[in-house]
Amino acid sequence: MKNHDSASASSSEPLLDLAALRADTPGCEAVIHFNNAGAGLMPRPVLQVMLDHLRLEAAIGGYEASAARAAEVADFHASIAELLGARPGNIAFAGSATHAYTKALSAIDFRPGDVILTTRNDFVSNQIAFLALRKRHGVIIVHAPDHPDGSGVDVDAMAGLMRTHRPRLVAATHVPTNSGLVQPVAEIGRHCRELDLLYLVDACQSVGQYPIDVEEIGCDLLTATCRKFLRGPRGSGFLYVSDRVLEAGYEPLHIDMHGARWIAPGYYRPVDTAARFEEWEFPYATVLGCAAAVRYALRVGVAPVARRTPTLAARLREQLAAVPGVRTLDRGAAPAALVTFAIEGWEAGPFKAAMDMRGINSALSYREFAQFDFADKEVEWCLRLSPHYYNTEDEIDTVAGAVAELARNAR
Ligand SMILES: Cc1ncc(COP(=O)(O)O)c(C=O)c1O
Repeated sequence: MKNHDSASASSSEPLLDLAALRADTPGCEAVIHFNNAGAGLMPRPVLQVMLDHLRLEAAIGGYEASAARAAEVADFHASIAELLGARPGNIAFAGSATHAYTKALSAIDFRPGDVILTTRNDFVSNQIAFLALRKRHGVIIVHAPDHPDGSGVDVDAMAGLMRTHRPRLVAATHVPTNSGLVQPVAEIGRHCRELDLLYLVDACQSVGQYPIDVEEIGCDLLTATCRKFLRGPRGSGFLYVSDRVLEAGYEPLHIDMHGARWIAPGYYRPVDTAARFEEWEFPYATVLGCAAAVRYALRVGVAPVARRTPTLAARLREQLAAVPGVRTLDRGAAPAALVTFAIEGWEAGPFKAAMDMRGINSALSYREFAQFDFADKEVEWCLRLSPHYYNTEDEIDTVAGAVAELARNAR
């Protein structure tokens, strides 16, 4: 796409045509959407492919419609594989990132005393899943400490814990839901590969925002959704499963007739690909919408998106940091496009409602989403603003202005 965004682009990099990208995004006309970390605004091609498929299902029948679109359905796996540097056979569809994550966990034969080594900033539902595994299987959960410089997990300390505990699983969330922190997942991965440890990465907030290369990260398993920075539909997610894990025979606890063949009354055989983590029934319109969203992201170009999106967020963060009564909360040298802040004199609900009233979409995070992080920061809640590449500098300034006005009017 053409350039309206050339300030710091290298000459070889694809460029963004913001006007065209916004014209392609119906929601841009209605709202200032700074909740891309919740769900990105779908572009027209995504919406269109989904509506077309629902019409086709109504016209010719659901099974017949999916058969007629078999090639496009297969592109779900192919497009995500291309995005991540994997093969289509490494990709499984899931109904959400959490669905993908719990399917992956279910494939691990945890025994009492097995260690799950994770970070203090791993996603809330992942932490709850680890606690549930502790309750049922007696696993031991170890949280690696954060680096004192605020850059996220202390990788050296985490590597030390890998050596002493030999964890059954190492788990890291690339960008948490509750702040713009970017965790050093590839550095963690290098240690996992060196020590041959099973490594699961939650890339839910980073996919679509940054280039993700599963080989570079060195992960065995990786989960994400299509609805956030990939701008796909809700009710979607995926799991990457490495060849290593497939060949080692990992399979989810509940495997169905899509993931396995029932080849004798007392015997089933899992399929060779990551399809063993899928289920037979698919929401086909959603799957097609996801493929369209990933193709769209690849056409726009991950590199210019990765340059523009955090830059927009940095502009917002800087303006918010200058507002009296506002405390920005994101740590690390180069935070992602999740801008979080606390504001004096407001309760969570009324503050978000006041943003809603101004046509600004945002999200709240609470202590129970981030027990360690919010305890460290001494906050009970914060507001999260998450712009994406299709947002404008003017929108950033408008949103920062709205927060400044609300801060002035605080009780
Ligand atoms: C870092 C992270 N991981 C996982 C999830 C869960 O995604 P899903 O709602 O698709 O299960 C989220 C959702 O916000 C998230 O931010």
